[in-house]
Amino acid sequence: MKKLLIANWKANPDAPGRAARLAKQIERGAARAKKTDVVIAPPFVFLSAVAPALRHAKLGAQDLFWEDTGPYTGEVSWHQLRHFRTAYAIIGHSERRRLVGETDGMVNKKILAALRAGIMPVLCIGESKETRRKGVAAAKRFVESQLKKDLAGVHARSLVVAYEPIWAIGTGIPDSPASAGDMIEFIRRFLAKRRIAARILYGGSVTAENARGFLDHKGIDGALVGGASLKEKEFNIIITIANHG
Ligand code: PGA
Repeated sequence: MKKLLIANWKANPDAPGRAARLAKQIERGAARAKKTDVVIAPPFVFLSAVAPALRHAKLGAQDLFWEDTGPYTGEVSWHQLRHFRTAYAIIGHSERRRLVGETDGMVNKKILAALRAGIMPVLCIGESKETRRKGVAAAKRFVESQLKKDLAGVHARSLVVAYEPIWAIGTGIPDSPASAGDMIEFIRRFLAKRRIAARILYGGSVTAENARGFLDHKGIDGALVGGASLKEKEFNIIITIANHG
């Protein structure tokens, strides 16, 4: 199976011109990488600046609202995103859960809406530092409870799951490939019981320096990359590493 790399730009860069330039540079890397799928998830306001630059790389959104159109101030619906040929949507990122109080119930509605709309959901899950301190079993219990709630009513579908331990996101302290691989195997077994076909990624402080450990691991299907996806040279190195695995 091809590896999947998703660039999560978060609230970056600062202007549409920069977003378009960065997208063009990453598109060049994506065009060379025949054995790797690349997705760029810019902020909503830059979707139209980034879309024309992409031919091989696919467009992703960083969120999606579950209703169609209507009185939902500040939201961007799945229906609107389809007009930008948005192929993927990141859902339930821990920054949204923490900063804007997104609940598992909301995440579940978004997953179901994305599946209805034909947009590939990228469900983000992962435990906090406090939970991890209690041990691997506690972390697995937490991840399993997120999967149960976030995927309520989802059976026999295809989606992407990103295992992103919260303590590894943006901290420069990634999980180890072996420990991430173990959690991903646990997630894979949960999904298999529901006949859900998933590509399962690792995310959290992936850089050009440490990417090989994750991308060479046969149980890890790719990476969700934040900070390093804003540096075109570094992200293109990560694409090359994924492609030669
Ligand atoms: P990071 O972010 O690579 O900057 O740690 C990953 C993410 O939040 O998706």
